[in-house]
Amino acid sequence: MQEKKITKRNKKNKLNQKALLKKTNYKKYFTKLVRIIREIIVIRYGHRTVRDYRVTSHCALVARALGAKEIIICGDKDESMKKSVDDVTKRWGGPFKVSFEEDWKNVFKKLKKKKIKLAHLTMYGENITGIEKKLKKEQKIAVLIGSQKVEREVYEKVDYNIAITHQPHSEIAALAIFLDRYQEGKELEKKFKNKKICIKGQKNGKKVVNLKRVGSKR
Ligand SMILES: C[S@@+](CC[C@H](N)C(=O)[O-])C[C@H]1O[C@@H](n2cnc3c(N)ncnc32)[C@H](O)[C@@H]1O
Repeated sequence: MQEKKITKRNKKNKLNQKALLKKTNYKKYFTKLVRIIREIIVIRYGHRTVRDYRVTSHCALVARALGAKEIIICGDKDESMKKSVDDVTKRWGGPFKVSFEEDWKNVFKKLKKKKIKLAHLTMYGENITGIEKKLKKEQKIAVLIGSQKVEREVYEKVDYNIAITHQPHSEIAALAIFLDRYQEGKELEKKFKNKKICIKGQKNGKKVVNLKRVGSKR
């Protein structure tokens, strides 16, 4: 009889604990916290107007969609490229900033002062699979992707040279995989602020919601 009472009490305690955990939802809380604290900046090295317009625009769109807060473009000041990305941010939400800097060394100096770690994506670097764990401990990171040949000095000045496989491919793909690994897929649920339109995902068909017409600022 006594034993029955004890097991009943234990069961009740376990249920209470579960309910408490559900209420506090620690996992959600910490995930949110990490998401808020993490800061990602993308540096596009060596942009050339016209020639790199499409690829740089795609790098910026991937950076924005997959959780970076800014892209700094080192190279030609390409206002039309900036305008097209800014237009996307205005309509689909942000925050996301596009800026230009002639000299990558100035960018590095500023970021180092702010204690932001520098990661350079290159097929010659260490495979991401080997340093993923260490990388995730960095709260602020600036990730550099090249276009033309990257100077030797960049390899020496960064904190990490990271390979997304040791095969030659594309800066867009390398950036996307890096961002996904670094954020452990959490970027796929990112909420964008001050958007005018958004998509309500459908099993079939297309549904775009015009938030201005609905009258809400989500
Ligand atoms: C046209 S590729 C040049 C490939 C170059 N030989 C390199 O160092 O990776 C332009 C950019 O794509 C990125 N990239 C290409 N393949 C990569 C890989 N396997 N791992 C990481 N980044 C890569 C690099 O940022 C590189 O600067």
